[in-house]
Amino acid sequence: MKELETIELSLFLEAVFRYSGYDFRGYAPSYIRRRVLDFMKEESATTISCLQDKVLHQKDCFHRFLDFITIGVTEMFRDTSFFKTLREKFLPVLKNNSFNRIWVAACSTGEEVFSIAIALHEESLLDTCKMYATDINETSLEKAKAGIFPLASMKKFTENYVASGGERSFSQYFTAKYENAMFSKKIHKNITWSRHNLLSDASFNEFQLILCRNVLIYFTKDTQAQVHKLLFESLADNGILALGAKESIALTPFEKNYKTLDADNKLYQKI
Ligand SMILES: C[S@@+](CC[C@H](N)C(=O)[O-])C[C@H]1O[C@@H](n2cnc3c(N)ncnc32)[C@H](O)[C@@H]1O
Repeated sequence: MKELETIELSLFLEAVFRYSGYDFRGYAPSYIRRRVLDFMKEESATTISCLQDKVLHQKDCFHRFLDFITIGVTEMFRDTSFFKTLREKFLPVLKNNSFNRIWVAACSTGEEVFSIAIALHEESLLDTCKMYATDINETSLEKAKAGIFPLASMKKFTENYVASGGERSFSQYFTAKYENAMFSKKIHKNITWSRHNLLSDASFNEFQLILCRNVLIYFTKDTQAQVHKLLFESLADNGILALGAKESIALTPFEKNYKTLDADNKLYQKI
């Protein structure tokens, strides 16, 4: 029975790829299996083959599947020690350059991007930095672009901002309207948002800083190596790479090409 499920899962992922170009075949098997089975329940499908029929033939079901698989869990100033270290030790290094390009890959609904933008603003770096924020999920990007977040999240985000070294009044960055917090245009005017698939799209520029946090954990070892190649090729010499708390450059084919700047906070420099 389990064997049949494995066959159906592999056929399903292949079909999704051939139908849409979205390639989930390189995601960690335990993760993808769990998510597909959960989605199957949600859609009241009895087998993966039944689910495949719905996903391929009903456009809205395909979009629900995409949203379900690409989990966008995020928050502003997530991992406060990472943001504190970046702000205090490594953003100042960017002041040595007349211009910086920053890529926030797999940015989800944008909270991480706005956190960086606020830190850059407070370090007087915003005008000399151009930010590129990308994700595979277009629905998430649309939300991110708007710069509007639930007001209910602001308490937690304010606490994170303070814990990560923010010393101003966080509320100066947004205007409360009904249930929402609308972020000031001056914070997000220098951000280009676009769809980018880390597994199939090429490098599109050279960056002084790249954040690629909390997405590599979903991929197999081989796929992680493929993404590390892309990140390495996209970094300028001496550029800085930031990974997520459970991710590392150690034991990847690119380990020797980086100096560890801060092992706990997953910050690395291309050498
Ligand atoms: C858990 S969120 C991480 C968000 C943010 N980086 C953070 O750390 O808070 C993972 C994000 O990776 C995106 N993602 C998943 N697979 C991707 C791929 N192949 N290419 C680009 N983004 C991808 C998802 O859409 C989701 O927004």
